[in-house]
Amino acid sequence: MMRQTLLGVSRNTTLRQVIEQAPVSRDVVRRFVAGDSTPDAVRVTGELVDTHRQVTIDYLGEDTTDPAQAEATRDAYLGLIAALSEAGLTQNGAAEVSLKLSALGQFLGRDGHAIALDNARVICQAAANAGTTVTLDMEDHTTTDPTLSALAELRQDWPWVGVALQAYLHRTEQDCRDLAHEGSRIRLCKGAYKQPESVAFQDKDDVDKAYVRCLKILVEGQGYPMIATHDPRLVEIASVLVAKAQRDADSYEFQMLLGIRPDEQLRLAGAGSRMRVYLPYGEDWYGYLVRRMAERPANLTFFLRSLATK
Ligand code: FDA
Repeated sequence: MMRQTLLGVSRNTTLRQVIEQAPVSRDVVRRFVAGDSTPDAVRVTGELVDTHRQVTIDYLGEDTTDPAQAEATRDAYLGLIAALSEAGLTQNGAAEVSLKLSALGQFLGRDGHAIALDNARVICQAAANAGTTVTLDMEDHTTTDPTLSALAELRQDWPWVGVALQAYLHRTEQDCRDLAHEGSRIRLCKGAYKQPESVAFQDKDDVDKAYVRCLKILVEGQGYPMIATHDPRLVEIASVLVAKAQRDADSYEFQMLLGIRPDEQLRLAGAGSRMRVYLPYGEDWYGYLVRRMAERPANLTFFLRSLATK
């Protein structure tokens, strides 16, 4: 119930203003968001890499309604990749980028798909020049087909382009089967958007079971699974499945969000697993933060307590 309500207010501008104006908010937001600027993102990336974690960076923003904004997002990624490269952070998979096609213009009318794809192409070429990779985030279920079709087009030139799949969607087991081929980088997450019963499991246990079914397909397949979850049970199951499939440590990775279970991130990295942190940055942090609160009441409590104590 709390989750549904919070997801419902994720576009509420009044709440956003309250959060922005509270004096301590920015500090609390920093637990989950690296900062507003490219130097902030590069600095926090460097800190994570120093502790044997890899990073995927998301320049925050979604649902672009204006071509200039989509171009500005593309240019922000180009600036980010250049800064990462200059800091020596694009080598050996240390830092890559995650993209939302909606932020690159996917909803800009009839030409939206082509605009987003063109912008993504420019970013993929810059990533290739810098020696790193790109992963496409997955948004609400209406974008799954267009995102997978953009993935197929991008992979013609850059086969290393990855994509997130959401275990809560009924269709995802089949998508995993279709995409578990050699070289295919697939990030499996539970799914963060409010979705109708007709397309997605609603019950947490059903989502977890679906996650395990999808994970098995990916781990037993030929691709490169990126296991994106903080769930201790699923991390444990994934560890058993990769051992059973005799996967080398460099043939899969765990992924977690910035600020969530940092001790577990360090434990997995220390145990020899690849551990990649999803690092969001930018001024458009509000929708992202509300989704994190919707997932876990403790995040909300932490946030509200910090507002009340200042
Ligand atoms: P869930 O939220 O069910 O939590 C399970 C358990 O994990 C909890 O019971 C607790 O034990 C532990 N846990 C969770 N949060 C914790 C916290 N703050 N502190 C301590 N323990 C905690 N979604 C999407 O729709 N599209 C996308 O492209 C992506 N991309 C993406 C990338 C990466 C790298 C990650 C990690 C996640 C995403 N997501 C996403 C978000 C994802 O779909 C999902 O909403 C969140 O990861 C939360 O789900 P969990 O698997 O962590 O389990």
